[in-house]
Amino acid sequence: MSGIVTGLLGWPVEHSLSPAIHGYWLDRYGIDGSYELFPAEPESLAERIDALRARQVKGFNVTVPHKETIIPQLEAIDQVARRIGAVNTVLRVDGNLLGTNTDAYGFITSLREGAGELAPYLPRVVVIGAGGAARAALVALKDAGAGSITIVNRTEARAKKLAEEFGAQAMPWANRASALKGASLLVNTSSLGMQGKEKLDLPLGALPAGALVHDIVYAPLDTALLKEARARGNRTVDGLGMLLHQAAASFRIWHGIDPEVTPQLRARLTP
Ligand code: ATR
Repeated sequence: MSGIVTGLLGWPVEHSLSPAIHGYWLDRYGIDGSYELFPAEPESLAERIDALRARQVKGFNVTVPHKETIIPQLEAIDQVARRIGAVNTVLRVDGNLLGTNTDAYGFITSLREGAGELAPYLPRVVVIGAGGAARAALVALKDAGAGSITIVNRTEARAKKLAEEFGAQAMPWANRASALKGASLLVNTSSLGMQGKEKLDLPLGALPAGALVHDIVYAPLDTALLKEARARGNRTVDGLGMLLHQAAASFRIWHGIDPEVTPQLRARLTP
């Protein structure tokens, strides 16, 4: 195949929305290129990367389960990837594979878009979850000037570790409902509420009505958390924006074009 080759390295990858997003932009900007799926089981990661080098791909996205394990295989990673501790975008420059991470950018750009004005929501933030997605959210929130940040996670030790690293506080999972008292922003970065996963059991009674609720889960788009938040008058932001804006940043890195996140693109991805 001719043209600029990009794609997605992960396992599994076949349900990803990224080919539809990048395909839309490649078309829209008349770029002779492709966005392909590069499935790689954990045992075959090194081999798969060698094959991508040999194919002289322009770059690729990285998803579960390789975002962290890929780091030693790359020639370099930038500061944001180092802070997040994970790579979601690779660019090939002079034969070298350089890793970065556009998830923090995607997160904050989507939040800003949904918030109108972000500043009023930053004084007291509660983050649910302490995995890779939480790390990207924390980097973005710190850079945006968030005030106090409380991390609530089922495994408290992970919350504590992140809290120490990011100058936040950790709260036990059992206290998650009361952690919402006085919060200006609630972010779910856990996989709870995702299709096929358990529901996020989080009573919202203590959450101020003026707080913004952001769920980064996008399948389903309208999660039970967002529905409940909206019903009680909270402003909400769904997970599609983060997905689209992290993709836009990757596209810009590979193609040098800042692609537009259009309502038409959103509609295409919304069932
Ligand atoms: P990601 O990189 O997408 O963040 P992850 O590192 O596996 O994925 O993190 C998933 C998050 O969802 C974690 O915070 C996890 O909590 P634990 O650290 O306790 O594992 C959270 N999570 C997943 N299933 C959960 C459940 N049933 N109850 C509570 N939290 C859950």
